[in-house]
Amino acid sequence: MQTQLSFTNLAAIETELLAVLATDTQTAKGPDAKPQPVLLTSDEKVRAAAAAVLASGEYKAGSNETILLHAPAGLAAKRLLIVGLGKKAKATVHAVRNAAGTAVRYSKPRAIRELVFTLPEATTDLGLTLPPGASARAAAEGAFVGDFDPDTYRSERKDVSVHSFTLAARAGSEQAAIQTAFNEGSIIGESQNFARSLVNEPGNKLTPTVLGERAAQMASETGLKAEVFSTDKLHELKMGAFWSVSQGSEEPPALIVMKYEPEGVTDGPVLGLVGKGITFDTGGISIKPADNMEKMKYDMAGGAAMIGAMRAIALLKPKVRVIGIVCAAENMPDGKAQKPGDVQTAMSGKTIEIINTDAEGRLVLADGITYARSLGVTQLIDAATLTGACVVALGMINAGAFSNDDETIERFQTALTTSGEKFWRLPLGDEYYDQIRSDIGDIKNTGGRWGGAITAAEFLHAFAEDTPWIHLDIAGLAWIEDNKPFIAKGPSGVAVRSILEWVRSYAN
Ligand code: BES
Ligand code: MN
Ligand code: ZN
Repeated sequence: MQTQLSFTNLAAIETELLAVLATDTQTAKGPDAKPQPVLLTSDEKVRAAAAAVLASGEYKAGSNETILLHAPAGLAAKRLLIVGLGKKAKATVHAVRNAAGTAVRYSKPRAIRELVFTLPEATTDLGLTLPPGASARAAAEGAFVGDFDPDTYRSERKDVSVHSFTLAARAGSEQAAIQTAFNEGSIIGESQNFARSLVNEPGNKLTPTVLGERAAQMASETGLKAEVFSTDKLHELKMGAFWSVSQGSEEPPALIVMKYEPEGVTDGPVLGLVGKGITFDTGGISIKPADNMEKMKYDMAGGAAMIGAMRAIALLKPKVRVIGIVCAAENMPDGKAQKPGDVQTAMSGKTIEIINTDAEGRLVLADGITYARSLGVTQLIDAATLTGACVVALGMINAGAFSNDDETIERFQTALTTSGEKFWRLPLGDEYYDQIRSDIGDIKNTGGRWGGAITAAEFLHAFAEDTPWIHLDIAGLAWIEDNKPFIAKGPSGVAVRSILEWVRSYAN
């Protein structure tokens, strides 16, 4: 998808589709409180073209609600699409991101390959906070996110891409800032889609080796250093936990290491991004039921999020060093597979009693975290589709976040206000750790039914130790079950934007 900015008069823009935003300014409640939709543009000709439909009461400017006018009077555009941001109180930058996705997803199935999206203005004194830079960035992100569809292997793809997305803004003093933000948003949206494209791949196409190749390819295109190691390196580093997961598969594991070292930055933080990259999770000998097992191709979404975030970091160039590590393996049952009761020695030297071979994510991450620390990282973040228990706790609305350090996670929570993603902090605690003490060794890989997301986090904590660390459990958000107006069902690319923003908070 091509993106560009236009600072010309809206009414004069020749396009297949001109999208403008609206919000409902009605604050009263009750049966007499009719919606009061207002367009977020000061362009008189656009306002005139939309006046009748807004007055009709047919259109409420609800969240992502659309209405289309053909041959709008007085405009050069062939179509005028009004996209709702919802009630005024909800008309935020995050609503603009979704509205841009909605405009793109409205266009795709109608074979509209080119559209112009109007940067919102708080025309009258609506009291909205829609800063032009942040809105431009969000619009670009949302447009790319909306453009992605998962049907890559369909012989006749129904919804081919929108070719051209133009953001139309008023000429003025903020032009340069809008341009910068829009370019950033495009990079971020593309990086999120890159992560989604990896997650979308089935397990037979995207093995650990192929994931390594894709990461290395991306790294060479964006100027990152990357190395992809396999079995020998795991043995050399004594990564007994990571290896134990891959030992039951014909597919060799991949330890993917991506380094971003900005010129002139020789001190300050070194951030470690560690992702779970299970390219398929059968459960191993503790095999999963057949129902929905096909979904377990997305068990590398944490790793894909790190690869997507590294891409954005490489292109946006924050002044902070970052190391991305993805622990990729396939979890299979086999004559050589590990068994419940086996004891493994992790890279850190800790011995792990395997209770359930389906709790494999924490095993690969344990060694990934130890490896990151051995490379000298000062702050760590991991992302993983780690537990069904996290989905039980938070549903598919919030992902889980855990941390051993308030300052570190507060930065992440601040990053969320920019990314618009939802993560909810859950507790850690010694009492939870007690659930994973082993009788035969140091630690067990499962802690029983209760608090399963937390005992999994405590397992990782035992390897992060006192390095400031955040754990993101994205099991409930990495895959979207139903189509939404602004995003297709399938891989979401969750965490890419938030991790990027967290990284940027350390840039000097
Ligand atoms: N990959 C799964 C977790 C998962 C579940 C991700 C549902 C996405 C959707 C993970 O490897 C797993 O199997 N976890 C087990 C842990 C249990 C054996 C302690 C789980 O959550 O059931
Ligand atoms: Mn599993
Ligand atoms: Zn898993």
